[in-house]
Amino acid sequence: MKSIIDIVKPEIQLVEDRELRDVLLMAYKDSEASIDVIQSCLVKVTSQEWPEYAMCKFFKNWRNPAVGAGSFCALTCRLLEEASVYSLGSVTQSDLFFSAARIAEVSNEDMGLLGPNHGELYEGLATAFCGTDAWKLQRYNLPQVTEYLTGVREYRERGQYMIHALMISLAEELYNHGEFTYIAPLFKKWYGVVGLNDEKRNQVLRFVYEHVGGTESGHFANMTQGLIHYCRAHGVEPDWEELGQRNREYIDGVAASFDQLLIEMESSSERYEVAGLAM
Ligand SMILES: [Fe+2]
Ligand SMILES: [Fe+2]
Repeated sequence: MKSIIDIVKPEIQLVEDRELRDVLLMAYKDSEASIDVIQSCLVKVTSQEWPEYAMCKFFKNWRNPAVGAGSFCALTCRLLEEASVYSLGSVTQSDLFFSAARIAEVSNEDMGLLGPNHGELYEGLATAFCGTDAWKLQRYNLPQVTEYLTGVREYRERGQYMIHALMISLAEELYNHGEFTYIAPLFKKWYGVVGLNDEKRNQVLRFVYEHVGGTESGHFANMTQGLIHYCRAHGVEPDWEELGQRNREYIDGVAASFDQLLIEMESSSERYEVAGLAM
């Protein structure tokens, strides 16, 4: 099975700028330990049948496509607003509009412009695996698990430095390509482990399949262009070393989240078993 590093490598190789390519390859190489943590958590989660309580914790805290997509739309709005203050038709304004257009592309699929809305697909996936829609309840919310990604999202929406907001978003899209491609076969197997109806498998797993192939890698390419044009608009050279650091931080943040989520799932399943025996 291909590791997340092997999955993202060919996408990084497509980047035109040699320095940017090297920095991203190095960032993933340096993050090997955190990638191992992420992969082992994903394998553990998807290789067994969990009590409903633990499944609800996983799906409540793993992803939130509607909120994520909203934050990318917010980033587009911020760029458009910034462009509007420059004189009409100026080079700066054109570059900012171009940057905004590239970032807008990142939420096309999530918002349902090209097919089913990803929020709805996630609901279908989570409800099938949990057995009910109870996973939506606030009681399964684990702020300590989602803390890092919530911070990233909030920075995208309101953070002071636009280049920083663009860099953390680029890191997110590259990582997403790796994670979704890595979990696709794992979820396919997990579907059988939890004993779901085979005929509906492709329909239930569509949320995962929609992110494999060109989707997330396309978002990464758009983020790269968006960042380059934003820097060009302001006459600054992109600091690729800084971008490498943002990628390392992102991977470490996700690893810490998965580690915490698995602990929560395991402890809740222990409590569940004790409660079950006591009944
Ligand atoms: Fe999506
Ligand atoms: Fe994406």
